[in-house]
Amino acid sequence: MACMVAATGGLIFGYDIGISGGVTSMDPFLSRFFPSVYRKQAESADGGNQYCKFDSELLTLFTSSLYVAALVASLFAAFVTRAAGRKWSMFAGGVTFLAGCALNGAAVNVAMLILGRVLLGVGVGFANQSVPVYLSEMAPMRMRGMLNNGFQLMITLGILIANLINYGTAKIAGGWGWRLSLGLAAVPAAIITVARPARGGEADADVAAEYDDLVAAGEASRAVTHPWRDIRLRRYRPQLVMAVAIPLFQQLTGINVIMFYAPVLFKTLGFGGTASLMSAVITVNLVSTLVSVFTVDRVGRRVLFLEGGVQILAAQVAVGALIGAKFGWSGVATVPAGYAAATVVVMCVYVDGFAWSWGPLGWLVPSEVMPLEVRPAGQSITVAVNMLMTFAVAQAFLPMLCRLKFVLFFFFAACVVVMTLFIALFLPETKGVPIEDMAGVWKTHWYWKRFVNDGDDTDGHGVDIEMGCVGEAKK
Ligand code: BGC
Repeated sequence: MACMVAATGGLIFGYDIGISGGVTSMDPFLSRFFPSVYRKQAESADGGNQYCKFDSELLTLFTSSLYVAALVASLFAAFVTRAAGRKWSMFAGGVTFLAGCALNGAAVNVAMLILGRVLLGVGVGFANQSVPVYLSEMAPMRMRGMLNNGFQLMITLGILIANLINYGTAKIAGGWGWRLSLGLAAVPAAIITVARPARGGEADADVAAEYDDLVAAGEASRAVTHPWRDIRLRRYRPQLVMAVAIPLFQQLTGINVIMFYAPVLFKTLGFGGTASLMSAVITVNLVSTLVSVFTVDRVGRRVLFLEGGVQILAAQVAVGALIGAKFGWSGVATVPAGYAAATVVVMCVYVDGFAWSWGPLGWLVPSEVMPLEVRPAGQSITVAVNMLMTFAVAQAFLPMLCRLKFVLFFFFAACVVVMTLFIALFLPETKGVPIEDMAGVWKTHWYWKRFVNDGDDTDGHGVDIEMGCVGEAKK
């Protein structure tokens, strides 16, 4: 069950991340919806300033509108799920998502494209709100990291599938391949929408077990009275800081520059066929996530974060230097094949580092450190910050590349220095700690102990069940 939940939620998110980059580099799509970008690209195809050729506000809005919608949806997801029940909110999310796929696949103007992306975003907001928390809660302690990382693994698989599909559809004569790319997002959405209501007809024993779980979860969640108020209490400061900082930093690694714009970057670097290069990068993304799946519960979160941070930093500096050395300030250059290949290899090293650190841990750590009574609010904050930053990076990258040029890569490198220091100083190890004992990790931490040991628990609620989970409530 856990695997299925992770699978559909992750696939949907990953497919949406992966599909837009390829589609926005397809000529029939560009010439139809973004003719000015198409013209600029054609003009600078042989020479001219390469840094600015894709800079278009409307084109960026197509990619990033999904994330704004997901941000807003994530803030409502916790309320809707409580009011309407899990089943109906998943169903509603699935239907919204299907409507988005239909609009996108059938689009005849930019408005339909963007509205479609907005509807997809609502589905993503709902899924990312519930999936990571569900996985952390139900996993046996010793496998919590592994199972939760299954979500990220399915994200990377979704990205890979999306790119393979783009690879095929780009070749369709007649130029309507992009419709297929966008429309096929309906497949995982249909699975969620259809599979959920169908469960009512299953064998009694199955339903009874699930029903027991729901009753237990209901009892436990009665302790959750004011999650939005409580999370601001001083004793939850470490968790609140993690709920904001971890997704913020995850996006400041710059990963979505690669995920959204790598085909564009490869074109900038002078590669002809970009799809196969992109496949290489995102295959690395998937395979390296497996490393995290199998080591996170043994070596722990901190080792992966710190090693990943150093690796990402080195690769960012190298990419900036390679692009800067060739294109300089003017953005005009012809790149020898070997040089371009070296740049792609360095990008793979970068993605590799992200895929076993900030990628999976960016979802795992916030979901596992949150005590029950503030968990819904905590996860909403994490998803909202993640989506906000994804939006900001997607929106800012092309204009920033056009203005900051290769220095942009050093900007991301500087962010990685800050976040790696943050982990070293402020994140306690959570490997192998039962979710209901998580409070202990802050009590002994050199910095956070002053917040959690101050004893401002005088409002008297929630202390005993603070770290409870569904399984605990049953006992
Ligand atoms: C991030 C996404 C990113 C993906 C790449 C996820 O953890 O949240 O923004 O595109 O990893 O694999």
